[in-house]
Amino acid sequence: MDVAAGESTARQDKPRAADPCAFVIFGVAGDLTKRLLVPALYNLAAERLLPERFAVVGVARAELSDRQFREAMGSALHEFATDKISTEVADRLLAGFSYVCGDFDDDATYRRLGDRLTELKRKSAIEGNCLFYLATPPNVFTTVAAHLGKAGLAREEHAWRRLIVEKPFGTDLVSARELNTELLSIFSEHQIYRIDHYLGKETVQNIMVLRFANGLFEPLWHRDHIDHVQITVAETVSVENRGKFYDRTGALRDMVPNHLFQLLSLTAMEPPICFEANAVRTEKGKAIEAIHRLNVQKALSQVVRGQYTAGCVEGKRVGAYRDAEGVDRNSMTETFVAMRLMIDNWRWAGVPFYLRTGKALARRKTEIVIKFKQAPYAMFRDTPVERLAQNLLVLRIQPDEGASLQFNAKVPGPSIRTGGVQMDFQYKDYFDAAPSTGYETLIYDCMMGDPTLFRRTDEIESGWRVVQPILDAWRERNEGLTWYEAGSQGPRAAAELLARDGHEWRPIV
Ligand code: BG6
Repeated sequence: MDVAAGESTARQDKPRAADPCAFVIFGVAGDLTKRLLVPALYNLAAERLLPERFAVVGVARAELSDRQFREAMGSALHEFATDKISTEVADRLLAGFSYVCGDFDDDATYRRLGDRLTELKRKSAIEGNCLFYLATPPNVFTTVAAHLGKAGLAREEHAWRRLIVEKPFGTDLVSARELNTELLSIFSEHQIYRIDHYLGKETVQNIMVLRFANGLFEPLWHRDHIDHVQITVAETVSVENRGKFYDRTGALRDMVPNHLFQLLSLTAMEPPICFEANAVRTEKGKAIEAIHRLNVQKALSQVVRGQYTAGCVEGKRVGAYRDAEGVDRNSMTETFVAMRLMIDNWRWAGVPFYLRTGKALARRKTEIVIKFKQAPYAMFRDTPVERLAQNLLVLRIQPDEGASLQFNAKVPGPSIRTGGVQMDFQYKDYFDAAPSTGYETLIYDCMMGDPTLFRRTDEIESGWRVVQPILDAWRERNEGLTWYEAGSQGPRAAAELLARDGHEWRPIV
């Protein structure tokens, strides 16, 4: 299908390759590096978005030679590549890989790393620009950052130095603040890139384009016309082999202050004055800041938590969460959370935002549903207004990417009867996106020094400020955990949360 006139400048103005730099990965033995970072670097290389002078330096504890490291990363690439691999591109990329072995808390590791970077610069393989990627467990984020600072590697002298920090960014408000303070004592805000991989998803970025590049939606995008908003991130996966981590974390910490709040803030934000990092992040931050804080009572009544029991997900048996490896047999950790939030500002006063996310649900589905208010007057006699189809705008983030608008149309025939119909846009009908890991744009943007899709200190802390009273309420009153069968729509209590307002969730199908 053709794209309409005035289409995509993206294809016409192909982005340029990033500046020469070294890409230093701490924690190359982990899954993130193998499954996502190396395939993403390959995809960038294949798109010619990596600079000619580019080097990857892996840092980890295991004793490996450069050759062994290249081989290990080469096999990871073959295993996890998102598309067919060109040997020429892969060989060129892997030729620039080298390895530094050492403990993250040993000064000598950073001396060796410094020497390696100097050597690469001398050989003219890079220009002194350096991106440090913390693909490590979170408990060493500050250790690595502090050592980088001590070794002088964070200093920007005639070259940039940037730090990418993975999630989880803290486990509560206090720890997130501490982490921010420590990182900011070594790197400046403009050097820190806090990743939320949801912002690497095309369809998430498209929320802004849909709202602000069209004159059509924005005039309706507020309390006068919108009844409520539903944000769903439903997963079919169970905790799998992450039981130990997940049991300490739970669905609330794992998904809400980061991924769900990114979706919420993009949906609720005011139009930024321009598409520039600080303008966008300021507006997103304000939307999160405006979420009404819950007290203990409200946190217990307006937030539902659930845990899955044994069941069947898409035809496959799934054991109960409590039976998963690494999970406490009496665990009270939630694998599902749903909540009703209100946003205290002029645009959204009185419009509930319902959020839900969970593991082992009926289908994998991430979507944002905007439910518009009903037509105010029942003009069509045979169709009482209560029976009209709802006006819904559904932004489908994954896996079936697109958007649809549901409205009423006349059913053919002599009498006036109405029926619900849908206009549907599917991404794949219009654009051929190369398969990607979702990390390509984020890595490229960081190399280009564009932090628009990364979270700023204030955004992180506002998110935790909203979640903290819920964590406190659950700690104070360890009650209210509900159950749902794996493969279902989630706990009944989540449906009741909406039913109290006379609403229902869009089914996860
Ligand atoms: C991660 C969470 O951040 O996001 C996982 O830690 C979750 O628990 C994942 O499964 C979901 O990401 P996606 O891209 O599959 O929706």
